[in-house]
Amino acid sequence: MATYFTLNTGARIPSVGLGTYKAGPGVVGDAIAAAVKAGYRHIDCARLYNNEKEIGVALKKVFDDGVIKREDMFITSKIWCSDLAPEDVPLAIESTLNDLQLAYLDLYLIHWPFQIKKGSEISPENFVQFDMPKTWQAVEKLYDSSKARAVGVSNFTTKKLADLLAIARVPPAVNQAYAPLGRMKVVANNPVVTSIAEILGKTPAQFALRWGIQQGQSVLPKSANESRLKENIDLFGWSIPDELCAKFSEIEQVKQIRNDSFVHPQSMYKTIEELWEGEI
Ligand SMILES: NC(=O)c1ccc[n+]([C@@H]2O[C@H](COP(=O)([O-])OP(=O)(O)OC[C@H]3O[C@@H](n4cnc5c(N)ncnc54)[C@H](OP(=O)(O)O)[C@@H]3O)[C@@H](O)[C@H]2O)c1
Repeated sequence: MATYFTLNTGARIPSVGLGTYKAGPGVVGDAIAAAVKAGYRHIDCARLYNNEKEIGVALKKVFDDGVIKREDMFITSKIWCSDLAPEDVPLAIESTLNDLQLAYLDLYLIHWPFQIKKGSEISPENFVQFDMPKTWQAVEKLYDSSKARAVGVSNFTTKKLADLLAIARVPPAVNQAYAPLGRMKVVANNPVVTSIAEILGKTPAQFALRWGIQQGQSVLPKSANESRLKENIDLFGWSIPDELCAKFSEIEQVKQIRNDSFVHPQSMYKTIEELWEGEI
């Protein structure tokens, strides 16, 4: 059974959650049912993933069938970049709650620290000035109303997080980090990972996930395959000794998702520094 970390709200977040990005139609519902059966108590969703309706149907079934109670699950979702105008934030959560068939979220995140025109696609010419303080006030109201029992962000650099902390009445509970398997290509092909996994008698995925937990992070592996999602939560009752953990930390750190394509002469972000380090 998964362990938990405690958020600044006092709520407990399970240390392993099921990722749902690219868990497609006709597949994601079965993945949710299999994950709950396998012991997952944490599901990471987002409006962007375009699968919240199917996840909602699957969650309703596990609750109705008495497999698990709503209060024993931890459900996260995220506000997409086109819904960041303060007046759109309450509409965004209503839409997500409706699709997920839930009365509240355990965690609601600002998906990216960039805003695009309402109804538009993410593309350089569609960025607009993100008024973070006003948007965060709208997010804080969701926390006040308990529709979101914790609120947070995702993809924030240290600079953007510091700017947010300077104005927040309700400090963010989470800055989500993700793709704990490096979308499997990174993890499966790294000789440090594969050799240590072999020493431990674990798979590369299990070693990478257990390392994340031992760093104090909640990990969100995505799998829509029953045997792999079981493998990805089989992380308890064993641990990585300190000396092997240290070897993992020696691997060169590279930011995998930089969003270089957002930087463009027609974009409000003309350089990668402006994108990630500019004023909010
Ligand atoms: N906040 C954000 O901006 C953001 C961005 C990206 C992701 N996320 C969240 O983080 C979650 C995880 O990230 P991710 O989905 O990008 O990548 P990931 O979890 O690092 O990797 C998922 C890939 O690994 C495969 N896989 C999973 N377990 C495996 C195993 N034990 N052995 C071999 N292959 C395995 C999956 O395929 P199968 O399904 O076929 O097993 C899938 O192709 C997302 O689903 C999403 O919930 C958040």
